[in-house]
Amino acid sequence: MTMFLVRTAARTAVRTNSCRSFCVSHTQLSDRKGLVLGVFEKEEEEEEGTLHLTEAAAGFDKSLSGKLSELLKLSGPALKNGKSRVFYGLHKDFPCVALVGLGKNNAGVCRTENWDTSKENIRQAVSAGCRLLQDLEVSHVEVDSCGDAQSAAEGAVLGLFHYDQLKSKKKTKVTTQLHGSADVVGWEKGIVYAEGQNLARLLMEAPANHITPTAFAKTIEEKLAPHADRVTIHKRPQAWIEEQQMGAFLSVSKGSEEPPVFLELHYNGSPDSKQPPLLLVGKGITFDSGGISLKPSASMDAMRADMGGAATVCASIVTAASLKLPVNIVGLAPLCENMPSGKATKPGDVVKAKNGKTIQVDNTDAEGRLILADALCYGHVFNPRAIVNVATLTGAMDVALGSAAAGVFTNSDWLWEQLHRASVVTGDRVWRMPLFQHYTKQVTDSQLADLNNIGKYSRSGGACTAAAFLREFVKAPHWAHLDIAGVMSNKDEVPYLRKGMSGRPTRTLVEFAAGLAHNG
Ligand code: BES
Ligand code: ZN
Ligand code: ZN
Repeated sequence: MTMFLVRTAARTAVRTNSCRSFCVSHTQLSDRKGLVLGVFEKEEEEEEGTLHLTEAAAGFDKSLSGKLSELLKLSGPALKNGKSRVFYGLHKDFPCVALVGLGKNNAGVCRTENWDTSKENIRQAVSAGCRLLQDLEVSHVEVDSCGDAQSAAEGAVLGLFHYDQLKSKKKTKVTTQLHGSADVVGWEKGIVYAEGQNLARLLMEAPANHITPTAFAKTIEEKLAPHADRVTIHKRPQAWIEEQQMGAFLSVSKGSEEPPVFLELHYNGSPDSKQPPLLLVGKGITFDSGGISLKPSASMDAMRADMGGAATVCASIVTAASLKLPVNIVGLAPLCENMPSGKATKPGDVVKAKNGKTIQVDNTDAEGRLILADALCYGHVFNPRAIVNVATLTGAMDVALGSAAAGVFTNSDWLWEQLHRASVVTGDRVWRMPLFQHYTKQVTDSQLADLNNIGKYSRSGGACTAAAFLREFVKAPHWAHLDIAGVMSNKDEVPYLRKGMSGRPTRTLVEFAAGLAHNG
């Protein structure tokens, strides 16, 4: 039915435009090409109807003797930022051409928004154009760089991602290609960044019966296989975890039938193999039921993405390897399920972490900090130059910032600067949060043990007490904890991501690692 409509539209377009020098039957309808071209908004002082086509769009318009700009003016009001319009039958090679609105030219970095508005506008517009063409079942799309080929590629690849692996009816697979620009390097880089985020989205969106700890580790191993010359992988089994005396991690995994895995990745990209690595640690709860402190059933399915920290960390290492970033990275992902059973940890139980600290587990749903505690202790053996852990840690983080930014709790102004700079470039923002002693006091006041796994005043400052808890397992001077619970999923807030698990902040982690690689 859809195909019929598209065909009708194509014929009509040809019929109504008598100047066409080609016939629709020459174009393979099942294998049509589309084109996405950008147009900026006019400046305030300019008169209505002034068009600012991008370089590529202007070139295309010229090849059609101004037909594109003529139709654009005829077809309706000026295209607003992020809006798009399709023209059919304009060009024999491109039966469908989507024009997309880019907002004001040279908007640049916005100090209040903490992002680069031009880049964000390009991602949004290109994504909208590509999706429109995908809905028309166009299988190959050429894309205008819009002045920033990397952002255009990110918009295209992020916008086209759709998790339909488990559906019989799938969306059209669309291949993309740069159009009318020589910046192939920027374009390719954008593709790799976006594919990295899409890998994290895939892992997060997949159901928990598909992505178990074992399946997660296997998927990452497969993704890293092409980079075997620079990558070492250890899939540490339960026996190793026990040897390491990771009592906090084991107290979470013991309620589940699925065996835990401690995934350890080494990416050796620096020419100096002795260079201290960047240590990335990701929370890898492949399903969080809450354990004996069972969560309410509404929306519990979203807890299949409670391995978002592990997914974004591992995906950023896969991306760093694809980009051959000259930096050493160690990635750690404690992977397990948090389930209730006769063997599960009970509220009030006391467990011992790898560093010998005892923890009273008053709420088994505050499990992320337990598995991270042991991973952070272990990570110090690599003498890292910086430690960044990433976790869907607290609902309180979502209450605080929503999906605008990931919260960063850090003991290092330098590390904050690095992460913040990276996030301005990617548009996948971070925002600094406090690590006051005020919160530490609330987790070190435990009836039975050295620490309690929940804050004394339960919900108040929940994201901050969780961060204070983690700090008890860190000795390094440059450590940051990213609470990504608020950015875990997307409804429609980020326009270039469809509804679903977001894969955020993979691109920010990659950009951050690239910054460390290039600036020492
Ligand atoms: N995985 C959750 C946090 C979460 C909530 C992530 C919503 C993404 C979206 C975490 O393990 C959890 O359950 N935290 C508890 C902590 C509380 C018991 C102190 C929470 O936030 O309610
Ligand atoms: Zn939980
Ligand atoms: Zn959790």
